[in-house]
Amino acid sequence: MEKKKKSLLVIYHSQGGTMDRLAQRFARGAALEAEVAVILKKAGEADANDLLQCDAIAIGSPEYFGTMAGMIKDFFDRTFETAQEQTIGLPFVLFVCAGNDGRGALTQMDRIAAGYKWRKALEHRRIAGPPTEQDLADLEELGHTLSAGLDFGIF
Ligand SMILES: Cc1cc2nc3c(=O)[nH]c(=O)nc-3n(C[C@H](O)[C@H](O)[C@H](O)COP(=O)(O)O)c2cc1C
Repeated sequence: MEKKKKSLLVIYHSQGGTMDRLAQRFARGAALEAEVAVILKKAGEADANDLLQCDAIAIGSPEYFGTMAGMIKDFFDRTFETAQEQTIGLPFVLFVCAGNDGRGALTQMDRIAAGYKWRKALEHRRIAGPPTEQDLADLEELGHTLSAGLDFGIF
């Protein structure tokens, strides 16, 4: 019987383009694993069905005013009631970009993920200041690690 392809959902928001670049690199790394389908979506275009269909999720948010982007919060608000019970244990990882901090956004998203009862798959990433090429390469590797682990059944 043919093995069903697993899917990795990458949700992000970006106003100024920085998280756009980071999420693209994460997704590029994730796509190196041919057996995993990578779905990259802006949070405003994603809904509970995306969540219900994925086998792991990565969420990228800029820090705005000490917390996650409003559109990321909106995604959580719109999907919680429909998807919470059915996504218990979903492997997840978070990545944040910020001018100089990012800890508020990371903490708040982590708390919400705990509310969904998701399972932290890998260390979250926080990029403060303009991303360097090394930051981008690290995120690409993070994406690859998550999708490889998903494919091998580690997560
Ligand atoms: C409205 C607004 C609020 C921000 N608030 C914070 C903040 O509280 N802490 C911080 O470190 N950076 C803050 N920043 C900087 C952004 O987090 C940073 O520039 C980030 O890379 C923007 O990502 P984006 O280009 O994907 O929108 C803020 C930027 C904007 C536009």
